[in-house]
Amino acid sequence: MKTENGDIIQIPSIDDRRGSLCFLENNLSVPFKIKRIYYIFNVPSGTNRGGHAHKKLQQIFIALSGSFTINLKWGKQSKQYQLNNPKKGLYIGPMVWRKLYNFSSGAVCLVLASEKFSEKDYIRKYKIFKTHEC
Ligand code: TYD
Repeated sequence: MKTENGDIIQIPSIDDRRGSLCFLENNLSVPFKIKRIYYIFNVPSGTNRGGHAHKKLQQIFIALSGSFTINLKWGKQSKQYQLNNPKKGLYIGPMVWRKLYNFSSGAVCLVLASEKFSEKDYIRKYKIFKTHEC
C-alpha cells in the first residue's frame, strides 16, 4: 500500500524492563531508501521551523524526545499533527508545505530523508509553492 502524506508509521520497538529500543530499516517501516538523517534540537520556546516545501524529497519526522506540532498543507488539505511519541513517525511526501512549532523544552526531532541535501529541492516561498501546485 502506498504511503500517503500525513500517514503515521508505527516504528517497531523492543520493550522490556530495561527500556525500549526502536529500529528503522529501508523497506521495513520506511517506504524509501534513507539517504540522509538529521535532527533538530535546542529550539527556543515560541520558535517556528519549516516554512517550505520540497519538490522531490520524502521524509519521516519523529519526536525522539519531547513534543512539537507540524502543520501540513497540500492541495486543499491543511492538517495538524502533534508528535510526542518516539514509536511513531509522520510521513511527508513531495510538494507539501510544512511548519513546525510548539516545540517543548528538550524536544528532539529526528528526520529520515530520501535524498541528500539540496537547496535546489526547496520551495521557500508560499506563493511559488501554490503556483507549482496548479
Ligand atoms: P531548513 O531545512 O530550512 O530547516 P527547518 O526546515 O528545520 O527550518 O534548514 C536550515 C538550514 O540548514 C538551511 O540553511 C539548510 C541547512 N541544511 C543543511 O545544510 N543540510 C541539511 O541536511 C538540512 C536539513 C539543512
